[in-house]
Amino acid sequence: MVRLHDIRTRLIGCIVLLLLSCTQTEASKIPNIQFLQGRPLPTAPISTAKQYRFTEDMFAMRNRIFWQALSSFKDRPDIHYLEVGVYEGRALLWVLEHIFTHPTSTLTGIDLFASGDGEFKPKEVYANPKDFKQRYFQNINSSGQKQRITTHVGYSQDILKTLQHNSYDIIYIDGCHTLTCARADSLLAWSLLKKDGLLMIDDYSERDFPDVHTAAQELFQKHQHSMKVLHTGWVLVLQKTQ
Ligand SMILES: C[S@@+](CC[C@H](N)C(=O)[O-])C[C@H]1O[C@@H](n2cnc3c(N)ncnc32)[C@H](O)[C@@H]1O
Repeated sequence: MVRLHDIRTRLIGCIVLLLLSCTQTEASKIPNIQFLQGRPLPTAPISTAKQYRFTEDMFAMRNRIFWQALSSFKDRPDIHYLEVGVYEGRALLWVLEHIFTHPTSTLTGIDLFASGDGEFKPKEVYANPKDFKQRYFQNINSSGQKQRITTHVGYSQDILKTLQHNSYDIIYIDGCHTLTCARADSLLAWSLLKKDGLLMIDDYSERDFPDVHTAAQELFQKHQHSMKVLHTGWVLVLQKTQ
């Protein structure tokens, strides 16, 4: 009788431990979620009428996911967008033309306009940052909407600290890719996001950008109870739920 009781107690203990360890592993990693899978959605190119100047298109494979994540914000008033790492302005101008079209919506860009510490250098353009800074500002002028766009030049890790908490609806991080930067950018950005707002983290790839991936996992571990994972892909999309 005593032995049976012992066995039962041990068995229950083991089950509880097993359940606890499962819950912890599940809860501490970003679950794999693909939203709107398979649904054909329109993707729109950037205007050719505006005479924008770009040397390369880092946004091409993203406009579909941007459309999926952001189409519910299209044409709405008082939507505030923040982008970390604007480069020549391709993503920022795409969302300006296709999503944040309302005259009361604003766009804020941050860039060092130089390759950050440990930043990958895809082309020689990074060797001459003055060129892409100039191109960015020319493109902003060409948009005809520069009154709605604010640009901060400097390290995002410093500038994000100066911005107002809970004031952005969408934040897109595509800046420095080292662990220190990615960690700071994502944590600071989270505090700037409004409730129901979206945080989009570019280059979320364990294989190609392990530091960006690690920083995103850490953000999830810290804030998982106030976030919903909407999409895991090259761009990770998280929603702030409280
Ligand atoms: C991949 S590019 C951004 C591409 C851009 N989102 C687009 O749509 O074309 C990365 C940008 O991050 C900027 N950057 C790198 N480190 C930074 C830092 N610490 N603070 C601010 N910007 C940084 C670089 O100057 C570069 O323009």
